[in-house]
Amino acid sequence: MNDLIRPKPGILDIALYEGGAAHVAGLSDAIKLSSNENPFGPSDKAKEAFSRAVHKLNRYPSTDHAGLRQAIGEVHGLDPAQIICGVGSDELIRMIVNAYAGPKDEVLFTEHGFLMYRIAALGAGATPVAVPERERTTDVDALLKACSKKTKLVFLANPNNPTGTMIGLAELERLATGLPKQAILVIDGAYAEYVEGYDGGAELATRLPNVFMTRTFSKIYGLGGLRIGWGYGPRHIVDVLNRIRDPFNLSTAQLETAEAAMRDQDWIARCRDDNTRLRGWLAEALAEKGVPSDTSTANFILARFGSEDEAVACDEFLKKDGLIVRRVAGYGLPNCLRITVGDEPSCRRVAHMIGQFKAGASA
Ligand SMILES: Cc1ncc(COP(=O)(O)O)c(C=O)c1O
Repeated sequence: MNDLIRPKPGILDIALYEGGAAHVAGLSDAIKLSSNENPFGPSDKAKEAFSRAVHKLNRYPSTDHAGLRQAIGEVHGLDPAQIICGVGSDELIRMIVNAYAGPKDEVLFTEHGFLMYRIAALGAGATPVAVPERERTTDVDALLKACSKKTKLVFLANPNNPTGTMIGLAELERLATGLPKQAILVIDGAYAEYVEGYDGGAELATRLPNVFMTRTFSKIYGLGGLRIGWGYGPRHIVDVLNRIRDPFNLSTAQLETAEAAMRDQDWIARCRDDNTRLRGWLAEALAEKGVPSDTSTANFILARFGSEDEAVACDEFLKKDGLIVRRVAGYGLPNCLRITVGDEPSCRRVAHMIGQFKAGASA
């Protein structure tokens, strides 16, 4: 690189995103509880659709994603014309930032919000603004207070990652209707399916002109390895996003697997029920061992330790036993570890080992 070849302002301020670790050196049977994946994997019907797609590899995929949008529309009771699909919800986050924010504009998100919001804002040359939360929960008043003429987008993951907390629909509506007229509220519903009876903000995105919702197949649908997400909102926003979307952004395998996964809601209901049961058990087991957490509405628990040193020591202790959890110092939570709710043996093992750690620490 010479002095004249420089990226746009903001790019070099981006800290590289680190995914959850997947391996422990020297151990072949490590259990990964670091990326909020579904331990039960995708529906069998989705796997069969993926296998069938191998016979079409020579053909370009559909550009309009009509089959997948139709399936999403039918399952969620939404107009397929207001749905857009992307390479994970990450692509939708990036698209909406690129389309609506640039230099001198501000992109707001909550203090412990998902790191992609900052990355996408800096990538677009916009200014990322982190807004304080209250007790690791979104503070609507603080968000409204932080808004200005420069605010173009407000991102809110609900439930939030990595805190696991969420706010209700009335609070979401108060936020949406209180924003400056030029600002869009993006409700990120990556974990919405884990909340019984919650629509992820779909009804608000149907009714209000400034609300857009993002969803993913990476979490409860068990398809993190395939990279598919979708968004839903007012036609004027979907139309803008489609103009900057790559025409062939999703492959045939992605589209057909996601469609089959969406149509198998029995599998999703089973995964939600198992997660609710195991999450409750794990939270209680950890609390009994002196490790509290906020009530989680997602597929992970944010375990709180007495100090950063204790959280780091516990992380190391678990790793030696082949249990990989997630440190979240980068999210402003240095004394916490985020633990994905795994299958029952994984939950029992992680609870047991944290108990061992605490017993050793107090011995
Ligand atoms: C809150 C939130 N939003 C979005 C994503 C991105 O998901 P994907 O790009 O896999 O759809 C994640 C992934 O961890 C997340 O936690």
